[in-house]
Amino acid sequence: MTRVALAFSGGLDTTVCVPLLEEEYGYDDVIGVTVDVGQPASEFEEAEETAEALGLEHYVVDAKEEFAQLCLDSVRANATYQGYPLGTALARPVIANAILEVAKEQGCTGIAHGCTGKGNDQLRFEAVWRDSDLEVIAPVRELGLTREWENEYAAEKDLPVEGGDGGKWSVDTNLWSRSVEGSELEDPSYVPGEEIYNWTQAPTGETQEIEISFEKGYPVAVDGVEYDPIELIEHLNGVAGAYGVGRTDSMEDRMLGLKVRENYEHPAATTLLNAHEALEGLVLTQEEREFKQLIDQRWSKKGYEGLIDAPLVKALEAFIDETQQRVTGTVTIRFEGGQARAVGRDSEYAAYSAEHASFDTETVGKIDQEDATGVAKYHGFQRRLANSVTDAEDAADEGVELATDGSGTDEDE
Ligand code: ARG
Repeated sequence: MTRVALAFSGGLDTTVCVPLLEEEYGYDDVIGVTVDVGQPASEFEEAEETAEALGLEHYVVDAKEEFAQLCLDSVRANATYQGYPLGTALARPVIANAILEVAKEQGCTGIAHGCTGKGNDQLRFEAVWRDSDLEVIAPVRELGLTREWENEYAAEKDLPVEGGDGGKWSVDTNLWSRSVEGSELEDPSYVPGEEIYNWTQAPTGETQEIEISFEKGYPVAVDGVEYDPIELIEHLNGVAGAYGVGRTDSMEDRMLGLKVRENYEHPAATTLLNAHEALEGLVLTQEEREFKQLIDQRWSKKGYEGLIDAPLVKALEAFIDETQQRVTGTVTIRFEGGQARAVGRDSEYAAYSAEHASFDTETVGKIDQEDATGVAKYHGFQRRLANSVTDAEDAADEGVELATDGSGTDEDE
């Protein structure tokens, strides 16, 4: 008996995949696997009910803890791609690995997903699965299925798909973000109404301040109350979402090169990313901050690609981990007008001295203000020299002679 494991959500795509894997790919038996990365309960009910109606053997794997930890790792890397905090992207390898494990346990020789051939998720799933010797199957992509064909097929086969359920949007939800795409949103000029949002309220004039504590770059407490990673993210999604924090509307460049119009909600992610960056601003040196931007950008790119287990990421994380040893402290965040803005920060590792930087003190420790005069004389020397040559050329055209040694004006001029 041949078995295939299917990444199963209970939606239209994965529901039609069940009979297709038997009819078109010749498998005797299909098992469905749904991985919990913090989707709402209603999604599991839908998956459960659909599986039952299909007579599909259904497994649910809880990967919330692992996923939440990865989300917090991404905070240390200030990870975003084109403004999006990577919720869907980071979840995919976690989901793919969990399904692969079930597939192996259950003696499957095939593993399948319901992704189209246009998106990122097919690449992220298969990057994990193609490490195994299971047959990787993508019925929607390989058979060139459209939503219309799937609906007709489902009706013909009397498959348990609730006509039009889930609304007209294609939604992907997990702990870190909720993504909405499709339908009218495919027109970049279409201005969506409040109905596309689920986690965030339209911002009102109200404000609130909260204090987030970090230890070595990881957020650990809100207003002095410690939370484990899952609770922390869920708590902040609630609090920040009430102030309309973390809405993104962007034209996203997918890996295949297609642009797609994406709307996201990610209140906790935005809050934590802003707070973390504010704390780094206090404790890291200028050159660490500048160099870490390159590292963070690369980390984000690998995250977007679903290749978070690449050797490069391990190396990037070694750098990140070293910098995060001092990213301990608290940040005050104010929710206001749909923003989560850092309005205060404190750390025992601050690379900052109020006394030194102050307008109210005369010296910088043992350094006198006057010591900056020499620096000021040199500052911009090369540009002064280079510009003076072209200025002199222009002046010569007008019959005037100018000095070109670049050493600037005399002190008493
Ligand atoms: N474009 C995003 C990504 O590739 C999210 C896609 C989510 N899918 C959806 N059906 N809304 O990471």
